[in-house]
Amino acid sequence: MPTTCVVGILWGDEGKGKVIDFLAAEADYVVRFGGGHNAGHTLILPSGKLVLHLVPSGIVHPQVVNVIGNGVVVDPIHLVAEIARLRARGLQVDLGRNLLVSERAHVILEAHRIQDHWHEQLRGKGRIGTTGRGIGPAYSDRASRTGLRVGDLLRPDALHEALRRITTEKNAWFAAVGLPTLDPATLLESLVEAAAALRPAIVDAGSVLRAAQRAGKRIVLEGAQGCLLDVEHGTYPFVTSSHSSTGGAFSGTGMPPHAMTVIGIAKAYATRVGEGPFPTELHGAAGDRLRIAGNEFGSTTGRPRRCGWFDTVAVRYAGELSGASALVMTNLDVLRGFDPLRLAVAYRHADGTGTRGFPAFGLEAVQPELITVPGFHDDVRAVRAFAELPAAARAYVEAIETHTGLPIKTISVGPERQQVILR
Ligand code: IMP
Repeated sequence: MPTTCVVGILWGDEGKGKVIDFLAAEADYVVRFGGGHNAGHTLILPSGKLVLHLVPSGIVHPQVVNVIGNGVVVDPIHLVAEIARLRARGLQVDLGRNLLVSERAHVILEAHRIQDHWHEQLRGKGRIGTTGRGIGPAYSDRASRTGLRVGDLLRPDALHEALRRITTEKNAWFAAVGLPTLDPATLLESLVEAAAALRPAIVDAGSVLRAAQRAGKRIVLEGAQGCLLDVEHGTYPFVTSSHSSTGGAFSGTGMPPHAMTVIGIAKAYATRVGEGPFPTELHGAAGDRLRIAGNEFGSTTGRPRRCGWFDTVAVRYAGELSGASALVMTNLDVLRGFDPLRLAVAYRHADGTGTRGFPAFGLEAVQPELITVPGFHDDVRAVRAFAELPAAARAYVEAIETHTGLPIKTISVGPERQQVILR
């Protein structure tokens, strides 16, 4: 099938960047359909590590047209800086040729960042642990029909008028709660400058993608975050503000639903950044050990990630939700020396009843039912064939396949491009 959609199965940070980089080598288009620069997609290139936040991961392959779809929220000032950083690394970024931005994507403003921090403070103990990038408030303004779209940046009169309206509304609120107010002239100046730099890239991306689809082009849809951070299907309210599961791939690009291959990326264990329920979380020294072994620190905020055992209940749910036909397992090498390994196969509610389903409520109170399997002690980073993995590692992968019902066709055993086992 010419279209492949890659989604993170749990709470993001599963290693999508490496998988998309692998698929992009054979692709015509790589398209981001949601999120913003809260994402951090890491690629390990021959020239070293590259972390992308807003620019799709196909940018390192010269033949790929990279598209920032309408479902993404774009901070134009951040995008200009990210492009400059990529060019400084020697990557070719030709706006209008290999990087396109949807004119329908919504703009993140300075005001949104202020609101993001303010809301988090107000939530106190119930805080979400957002990335503080203004993502939620930008999506809120989109839903409230008060947002600014990327295409507005190219229309000086309309932009001027929109900023006047937005700052009037926000300043009334900001002043009332003691936040610094915004100056429309300064805002206009910074946005006009960024717009001038981005102008050649700003297009009707939906029509470009529909034409590509009709022409049978190979399209990779690059999910950001993960299915359990989906605003509707995730662990609400501890979620991001976009549709980060496969559903968002249609509304976030303007492509009509069509047959596609969906690949779910799952780490060999579970991680989560920010607040919210996490049934298989390991606390204390055990969690620290996994965090250090996997270098589990956020690529956008540097925050330590919470770590825990593989959760087949959550993965089964996200697999069904996303339509994933197979899983790519990442970071298997990290589990070396963890013996025994455990995985959750069911949850137990406080009243003693069990479930294999993923509940919409009360997840913070469930106890995971863990099974134990032997761990492995050999370094697997140089292994390239499934049969050459230690028997315990193979049994672990097979146990996950059995309990999730999803085949694992690809296993990543290190951050570099060639550190992959294809079955
Ligand atoms: P926001 O997307 O900044 O509003 O943050 C909402 C929640 O999503 C927080 O728990 C963040 O830590 C989490 N989050 C957002 N983007 C990512 C990501 O790319 N990887 C992992 N977690 C993320």
